[in-house]
Amino acid sequence: MVLTSQKHLFNIPSDVTYLNIASQSPAFKAIYDAGLEGLKQKNQPNTIAISDYFEPVIELKKLFAQLIGAKDYNRIATIPSVSYGMATVANNVVLKKGDEILVIDEQFPSNIYAWKKLAEKYDAKIRTIKNPGDSKQWNTSILNAINTNTALIAMGNIHWSNGCLFNLSAISKKAKSNSALLIIDGSQTIGALPFSIEEIKPDALICAGYKWLFGPYGCAYGYFGPYFDQGNPIEENWSNRLHSENFAGLTNYESDYKPMANRYSAGESGSFIYVKMQIAALKQVLQWTPSAIQDYCKQISSEAVSALRAIGCEIEEDESRTHHLFGIKLPSNMNVDAFKKELHNKKIFISFRGNYIRISCHLYNTADDFKPLVNCLASHLL
Ligand SMILES: Cc1ncc(COP(=O)(O)O)c(C=O)c1O
Repeated sequence: MVLTSQKHLFNIPSDVTYLNIASQSPAFKAIYDAGLEGLKQKNQPNTIAISDYFEPVIELKKLFAQLIGAKDYNRIATIPSVSYGMATVANNVVLKKGDEILVIDEQFPSNIYAWKKLAEKYDAKIRTIKNPGDSKQWNTSILNAINTNTALIAMGNIHWSNGCLFNLSAISKKAKSNSALLIIDGSQTIGALPFSIEEIKPDALICAGYKWLFGPYGCAYGYFGPYFDQGNPIEENWSNRLHSENFAGLTNYESDYKPMANRYSAGESGSFIYVKMQIAALKQVLQWTPSAIQDYCKQISSEAVSALRAIGCEIEEDESRTHHLFGIKLPSNMNVDAFKKELHNKKIFISFRGNYIRISCHLYNTADDFKPLVNCLASHLL
């Protein structure tokens, strides 16, 4: 499928250039309308049926399962954040003294703190794989670091700040041959880059829902593989137990959970407003397809990438990075403060980290959105 701009579906003001979906996505009309439907229901709680607590959540789990190529929607839990998902994983991992938890240099903190605590608890070690400055070497260093001491690998499938692609297929194979768990943070890719649970076979995949999945802030998803089937959730919500649909029998306390990952859904996952918005969002993403979104982002950004390289910006090689999200190392001969100020005045929104910027784009952007950014950057070279 070849996609064209979908700007007409969004409500981004015409004088704003938003190249920062990796921080927060804008809503499109169907999401906005779905949220309003939820608000209307809040006006009339008598219209909320018992089935509304369960059936929309099942629909949502099916949509997310379809997006990541998971066969059974019961392997999906709806959670509020990546940190919640990682806490759930950490709650179910037992280590031995000296075991290693492998993480990537400058990984997002919600995928770090849980492992630091886990390592302290069991006197295990965190092994951080530094960036040697080249993505091929980085992947080689990761593979070389996996050995029989590796108990768990926690990483993204790209680096969240520069879009560098990690070879999860090879990493997964090496993890399995060393009996290490593989835990993936898919927050910066799922929805905009194809992903297949069947192919990668991670033990868990945790994903924020408010970026490339267009959900409201406070919604996230977790896929939990067979390792976690009999595990302990971090809280005990009534709706995750068997027969919770029978409201009249809720105090016939039930010792069994619903199957697979259902036990890990956060309390009040039926959240009527959010779930409606999330369903509208995932339906649209599935219709667009992550593969066509990725191709579109490549097409609209390629000219700007060449122009930026020509004025001295460093950008990872095209085949080693994503096109919906990529990092740019600014030239050293640049007045970064003046550049920032002008971007602000021109209402161009991107992410800054020291001498690096992160650009992220989607179907509401066009190739024209990159032009003022490139011109602005070029005009602040010293
Ligand atoms: C890679 C990555 N993971 C996770 C998150 C969000 O984590 P949490 O849902 O715990 O706030 C972000 C936010 O920018 C991110 O970039």
